[in-house]
Parts: sequence; C-alpha cells; structure tokens
Amino acid sequence: MAAKILDGKAIAQDIRAELKAKTAELKKQGIVPGLGVLLVGDDPASRSYVTAKEKACEETGLYSKEIKLPATASHKEILDVVNAFNADDRIDGILVQLPLPDSSMEQSVIEAIDPNKDVDGFHPLNVGRMMLGLPAFLPCTPHGVLQILKRSGIKTSGAHVVVIGRSNIVGRPLVNLLSQKSELGDATVTMCHTRTKNMKELTLQADIVVAAVGRPNTVTADMIKPGAVVIDVGVNRIEDATKKNGFRLAGDVDYAAVAEKASAITPVPGGVGPMTITMLLANTVESAIRRHGAK
Ligand code: GUN
Repeated sequence: MAAKILDGKAIAQDIRAELKAKTAELKKQGIVPGLGVLLVGDDPASRSYVTAKEKACEETGLYSKEIKLPATASHKEILDVVNAFNADDRIDGILVQLPLPDSSMEQSVIEAIDPNKDVDGFHPLNVGRMMLGLPAFLPCTPHGVLQILKRSGIKTSGAHVVVIGRSNIVGRPLVNLLSQKSELGDATVTMCHTRTKNMKELTLQADIVVAAVGRPNTVTADMIKPGAVVIDVGVNRIEDATKKNGFRLAGDVDYAAVAEKASAITPVPGGVGPMTITMLLANTVESAIRRHGAK
C-alpha cells in the first residue's frame, strides 16, 4: 500500500492565505509586520533560504529588510546589525541565518536578539518559556512539523514518536513540544542520535518517526513499522549533473522504499520545508500583533 503524501506545500499555502488576510486586517490599523534578516557569508543553501523567506514576506504582505555581511564580518559588525534591528520599530521579527561562518559567535549573537523579536525562538528566554509550556515564539521547523500532523488529522496523543536528531533547532525542541501536555503533544517520545545503539529496535516501535539528521538514507524501510507516519526534516543537496543547478534535494529518508510501508510520509522537497518559512511568517505576524497591542 502506498503512503498518503503529506503535502506540506499545500498546508503551507492554506496557512499563508490565513496570514495574508490577517496582515491585510493589520494594515487597516496602520500596522505592517516586518522581518529583519541578516545573512553573513555566501553559503549557497543559506542564500537560497533567505531569498525564499523574503519572497514569502512579499507575497504575504509583510515588510522585510535584508542585510548582507561578508564571511569575514567581525563579531561587532554582526552585533551592530542585530542591535539596529532591535531598535528599529518597523522590525517585529529578527532572523540571523545560521550557521554563521564562525560558529563560535552563534550563541552570543542569538542572545543579543531582543527576545520579543526572536521569531526563530532560539533565544534562551524563549527556549526556557517553551520548555515550561508558557507562551513563547516556537522554533519554526518543529512548529511546522506539529502543524503538518495536526492539519493532516494525525493524532500525537498517546502515540509513540521517535525523533532522530538532537539539534537545538529541530530535534530537541520537537521532543519537548511533543511530550508536553497539550493539543499538539501528549506523545510518548524517544530521542535517537549518533550514539544511539539500537536505533532500528526503537524506530520499529514508533507510530510516528521524525528524521532530522542531515544525512540521506538514514531512515530505511526495514526501520519502519507498517502503517507508521514518517516526517522527513532533512534537506540534503545531492550532486546531480542532469540538473541545471548541479544538484537535487533529498531528505533523510529513503523515500521510495519507505513510502511503500508507511501510511503517510512527507516528501522532500514539498514537505516540511515550506512549513518552516510559513511558521516564521506566523511568528512575525504574531510579534507585530503583540508589539503594537493589535487584535
Ligand atoms: N538554519 C537552518 N534552519 C534555520 C532556521 O530555522 N533559522 C535560522 N535562523 N537559521 C537556520
């Protein structure tokens, strides 16, 4: 039996239509939600994410301002941009595209972002609030995964979810959110990572498997219980001379084989990816509403 394809692109379009309507309402009150984006260096994947984020802002009616710095930018130059965004009243959300060329700067740069404008949900204050189940900006990719499940009618309550990957951006927040006593949580969650010894034994018990590793073919069909739901967060560039740009995208899951066994699966591209950007727009609109005291 072939799996149902969980069409993240279509779900993202629905949410974006809702956000566009909300933004039009805000405009009548003189409020235009604004996103400030900082890109340091010229990593091709980061550049393409930033372009996609700007295009999404434009299509949804948000203001966006992009600052590009060279890979050689100093810590101070980066902090100056963050502080300018913090002080700019047109900016409701700040996004510093990660990874930074010098990853040792990342934590201090994240902590320089005004937590009230931290639409990535990476500031320790927002991470802590999320952990406690308090209102907070939720990190965009985990939130996008939860929205795909919710809007596809897949229940997490009581389900055993195995999350593969322990990054601060995806794996760890997702484990936390799924385990919370909440509408999008209430799952029994197992986290796997590079030191996990018996991964297949664990994934075979899962009702839902989420792969967030960054390595193609990490999840193969023999690891999946028949009828399980598979969410593929991976975005890997595979060299492919037949493509105009020289590569194709693949997730972390052996899609063709796993789709034969699962009951539902997200494709790459067109699964989680479009949801990440959409939740960024949602957080920015939410921030504008909060900051301006709008309804
Ligand atoms: N790099 C990969 N994913 C993300 C994300 O969600 N936000 C930022 N800022 N950088 C990223």
